[in-house]
Amino acid sequence: MVATRLIARPACRYLARASFTPSWTQARSYAAIAKNDRVAKFLGTKGNDGKYTVTLIEGDGIGPEIAQSVKDIFTAAKVPIKWESVDVTPQLKDGRTVIPQEAIDSVTRNYVALKGPLATPIGKGHVSLNLTLRRTFNLFANVRPCKSIAGYQTPYDNVDTVLIRENTEGEYSGIEHIVVDGVVQSIKLITRAASERVLRFAFQYALEVGKPKVRVVHKATIMKMSDGLFLRTARDVAKEFPQIEFDAELLDNTCLKMVTDPAPYADLVLVMPNLYGDILSDLCAGLIGGLGLTPSGNIGDECSIFEAVHGSAPDIAGKGLANPTALLLSSIMMLQHMGLHQHAEQIQTAIFKVLAEGKTITGDLGGKAKTHEYAGAVIKALN
Ligand SMILES: NC(=O)c1ccc[n+]([C@@H]2O[C@H](COP(=O)([O-])OP(=O)(O)OC[C@H]3O[C@@H](n4cnc5c(N)ncnc54)[C@H](O)[C@@H]3O)[C@@H](O)[C@H]2O)c1
Repeated sequence: MVATRLIARPACRYLARASFTPSWTQARSYAAIAKNDRVAKFLGTKGNDGKYTVTLIEGDGIGPEIAQSVKDIFTAAKVPIKWESVDVTPQLKDGRTVIPQEAIDSVTRNYVALKGPLATPIGKGHVSLNLTLRRTFNLFANVRPCKSIAGYQTPYDNVDTVLIRENTEGEYSGIEHIVVDGVVQSIKLITRAASERVLRFAFQYALEVGKPKVRVVHKATIMKMSDGLFLRTARDVAKEFPQIEFDAELLDNTCLKMVTDPAPYADLVLVMPNLYGDILSDLCAGLIGGLGLTPSGNIGDECSIFEAVHGSAPDIAGKGLANPTALLLSSIMMLQHMGLHQHAEQIQTAIFKVLAEGKTITGDLGGKAKTHEYAGAVIKALN
């Protein structure tokens, strides 16, 4: 209590300052979304050759190996896209980490990118490139579906969760300061505009993937103002979607129930502020066998970037041991976002068939296949 009082007053002063909003937040546009507009609609169009151009960020470590598998499988499945590879090696400009302009131009032009893992150098002068990408393209929602994979034994074989995490503010708004030596404050920023946008996206996503219910996960009992605003906004947005059931659950309760029995979560889309989503999405990934099988989509106002949840795995890079499934499943989310549902379905069926057979799987799943051998098996299973 004493500590709370000690830091509460400077916080008020800090909040009252005009310079409170960090520059990247000011740069964001929270354009009002017309109620019936689809949030984050794919805006790309096919070129004269009948193909969409997609930006490809191969990434570091195992990135190029798993990206090659995606490229090979897409070619075999005759997916009407062509890749535009870009380098996102960070540049320091005026003391800030920036993405090379060519990479920004490519994603802006194509509206969509597939991204391999990027290593975050420890102790060097720039922030995580992943965070920089999110901020550069205002990727406001992180979508993480986790579905049990037949043939891969985990404690539960009926996991089918979809989690949507607010990606731009909350506890990760980057507003931290030292009050006095030994006392720091970190501000959890929640705005109605950003909450409304991610919540509306969650309801629209539920409609799109056929889940009958949206559930907000929160701690409004404790964070009455910030999570309270998120929850109130959710109740308001829910009124626009009478066909979707809506309820709310406390974060700790969700964690307990989900690891006890994930089955009841199969018919809903979970949506929540940033930090809760970061943690709970890894919990969901654990239920289906870990990060190596988990895809994700970072959805923005205009551009969206799809990526595997795992990192660059430097310990196995260049050895042909990497499992490309997570990046492949991310590329399937990307195809669905682009409206290429038939191709998405075809490739997904082939992946699940190969995994279920269990003959040509990579080492992390208990098999012996090299990355390219697994990709070859998926290609064979396409027909
Ligand atoms: N989205 C991203 O780009 C992202 C996410 C997480 C970590 N990272 C970065 O990646 C680097 C390494 O991070 P880490 O070692 O903590 O996590 P990691 O996910 O790279 O590796 C953890 C373990 O999982 C294994 N693994 C990961 N992906 C695999 C795959 N596809 N197939 C087989 N095995 C796989 C690795 O071999 C390792 O043993 C760091 O620089 C980190 O910052 C990037």
